[in-house]
Amino acid sequence: MPNALPKPLRKQREVLYMPVKGHSAVLGTAGSGKTTLALYRAAYLSAPGMLHSGQTLLLTYNRALVTYLNHLKPPEFRNVRVENYHKFARGYLNSMGRMRSDSICDPDLRRLLICEALSNVKQRSKKSRFFDRHLTFFLDEIAWILSHGIETEEQYIAVDRVGRIGTNLARKLRGRMFDIRNEYLKLRSQRGKMYDWDDIAYHVHQEYLQDDRP
Ligand SMILES: Nc1ncnc2c1ncn2[C@@H]1O[C@H](COP(=O)(O)OP(=O)(O)OP(=O)(O)O)[C@@H](O)[C@H]1O
Ligand SMILES: [Mg+2]
Repeated sequence: MPNALPKPLRKQREVLYMPVKGHSAVLGTAGSGKTTLALYRAAYLSAPGMLHSGQTLLLTYNRALVTYLNHLKPPEFRNVRVENYHKFARGYLNSMGRMRSDSICDPDLRRLLICEALSNVKQRSKKSRFFDRHLTFFLDEIAWILSHGIETEEQYIAVDRVGRIGTNLARKLRGRMFDIRNEYLKLRSQRGKMYDWDDIAYHVHQEYLQDDRP
């Protein structure tokens, strides 16, 4: 039989029947059945009588995995829809009227605009060795700021930069850093780009918070 998924066993059954509310992260060693269980879990959640029965979206971060999951998916899991996150994000923002064509800034343009933002802010600021840091620092820091949904300088100054250990940034320099972030967003919007791959998820979530459709 093609498409026959192995039956969940032992610990796998615990994962399958976890509570249906809230968030869960499931970790497992290589080959322990994470991918198989993701499909089972999505089918379980979509079953009639479940809290959120009906179509269930199973998201991945790459297209190859979508193809693979669709290949594994048994035909009776018809309520399970597999997509990659970025396709979903575009479609979702579009459904909220928040997506124009060609409005995502690709990584090359992003890099260019961050370079430009850095140089603009450097020109109008007091001389500082801060601006001599490697471009990678600025690229990564802006990715971090945008993907964590940090919207104000005050928030940024107060926050612990979780995950950025090893890249010191004194609180007194954060204002300059935030100016570069603001400048980048300004330049990006002048190019007609509404998002990049770092902040699209944040915007999806913001839209979702005010989406009252079923
Ligand atoms: N309960 C089971 N009985 C028999 N075979 C199983 C069972 N669970 C998983 N398998 C098989 O083990 C292999 C690995 O499963 P799966 O790909 O779901 O694991 P994974 O944790 O996602 O692996 P990876 O770490 O490589 O992503 C697959 O061939 C799957 O069919
Ligand atoms: Mg896997």
